[in-house]
Amino acid sequence: MDRSLWLHDYELKEFPPLEDDLEVYVLVIGGGITGIISTYLLRDEGVKVALIEQKRLMHGTTGFTTGKLTIQHDIIYQELLKKHGLEKTRLYLDSHLEASQFIKNTINELNIACDYEERTSFIYTQSPKEIPKLIKEVEAYQQLNIPYLENPPLNLPFAVEGVLGVTNQAHFHVVKYLQAIVKELENQGDIYIYENTKVLHVKEEDDICVTFLENGRKVRSRYVILVSHYPVNDTLNSYFMKLKPMMAYVVAAYYDKDFTDGDYINIEKPTRSIRTHPYQDKRILILAGEGHQCGHTSNDKKHYQNLSDFGRMYFNMDTPLFMWSTQDYETFDKLPYIGAINKNNPRILLTTGFKKWGMLTSTLSAMLCRDIILNKKNAYHDLYSPCRLTDKLTGKFFVYNISGVGRLIGDRLKTYNKSWSIEPGKGKIISFRGKKYGIYKDEQGETYIVKAICPHLKCILTFNNEHKTYDCPCHGSRFNYKGEYLDGPAIVNLKRIKATKK
Ligand SMILES: Cc1cc2nc3c(=O)[nH]c(=O)nc-3n(C[C@H](O)[C@H](O)[C@H](O)COP(=O)(O)OP(=O)(O)OC[C@H]3O[C@@H](n4cnc5c(N)ncnc54)[C@H](O)[C@@H]3O)c2cc1C
Ligand code: FES
Repeated sequence: MDRSLWLHDYELKEFPPLEDDLEVYVLVIGGGITGIISTYLLRDEGVKVALIEQKRLMHGTTGFTTGKLTIQHDIIYQELLKKHGLEKTRLYLDSHLEASQFIKNTINELNIACDYEERTSFIYTQSPKEIPKLIKEVEAYQQLNIPYLENPPLNLPFAVEGVLGVTNQAHFHVVKYLQAIVKELENQGDIYIYENTKVLHVKEEDDICVTFLENGRKVRSRYVILVSHYPVNDTLNSYFMKLKPMMAYVVAAYYDKDFTDGDYINIEKPTRSIRTHPYQDKRILILAGEGHQCGHTSNDKKHYQNLSDFGRMYFNMDTPLFMWSTQDYETFDKLPYIGAINKNNPRILLTTGFKKWGMLTSTLSAMLCRDIILNKKNAYHDLYSPCRLTDKLTGKFFVYNISGVGRLIGDRLKTYNKSWSIEPGKGKIISFRGKKYGIYKDEQGETYIVKAICPHLKCILTFNNEHKTYDCPCHGSRFNYKGEYLDGPAIVNLKRIKATKK
């Protein structure tokens, strides 16, 4: 089951696909929070912009978030101080504070009813072993002058060893927020929005970007902002080596427990992120966590089950009304990529690598891309530049890439099932005459067969029976059971094989 609380009452009308060639000043590729806010900010500057989305707006990662708006990104500040020093860490903090203020102001100015609620945000641990990390984070907050609450008195339904809080953080209903912004953008002379329009490639030549669409049409623009989650234009840039795809799971249900309402996340594994949200005339509990690398789990059901068990045990949580899951990318130096895709293509801007904290990072990214396009000075330009070196000079970068090669070779030596027989609602990978196929039978008995080799670098895909997707264990490309591309470096669909009836 993949049913997101944020998308279940989605109310935007469908925008048409782009079926002609087009010329604009800026083309924004990807209709998630980053693409929509980028378009909105450029609209305010009077720029002619087109926003193109391969599916429906907000149905990528954005529609499957937890919706916390906090500067407290796990134990990020001690890690940034260690890796990047005080000055850069302060810039990271300031840029997220600005983004947070922007969201609050925008909600007030446009009077958006998006369940924006201020809360104290807490990181906590139930493990004595993690206390030194919590103490280090306190020291980092002191260096950065972040006001904090250390071990405040809380009414929680479980024992904790340590808690660190930051007041005046928030959470919201991201889809309600973005729907209101899209409605602001509709019917504006110089803003064009297209859905069901897939981009295949972008080229920059002589100060002009040409974007090639799957349907053969082209868009010419002075700038492209690639906010497609994974950058579509990766032929020569090898972002797949620098972005680690991490899945996470969310359940939401009614609960029956009094506790200090706040936004919580623990610092040990498995992750437990906790918040509540108004739903109908009550509140529901939202639990997220169970992160793992894309394609690296044998049983997705168990992740939902573990979250539900946790909810039931501590919060008397009911059966989940909503369960959803998706992936987000992490970089190896903990900073997102925002800026020119490479030194030779200064007009192709990309943003990615939000490490599951993209609600604020997307917003600062939209601000930074706007400033690059308008040639305005922006203090965060160098910090987030995708051309920096710090991202590769890490042990984790090497381990990740070696493990990708390991899967590429190792999975070929594994034994796969050889039987084509399959129950309705199930999928699997089989080996037939030395080749790997993915087979899925829907509830009505229709069978879908695809080549189970990732079009990116030929790793063998895994089948995810909870989401009915093919997931690549090497660099996180994902496809639905029909083989249609969803996310990741592969960009193209899987090859479909016609199922013949016996
Ligand atoms: C389970 C989970 C919980 C999270 N919780 C939080 C949280 O509480 N707080 C927080 O700050 N962050 C959170 N995040 C992170 C946050 O949700 C993401 O960082 C953010 O939504 C990313 O937005 P985006 O616009 O960059 O990407 P997306 O929303 O994925 O948008 C990209 C869009 O581009 C489109 N696209 C892709 N390829 C093409 C193409 N070739 N042509 C045209 N369009 C294309 C996609 O269809 C998609 O709609 C969470 C992430 C996960 C996985
Ligand atoms: S995403 Fe790289 S091989 Fe699949």
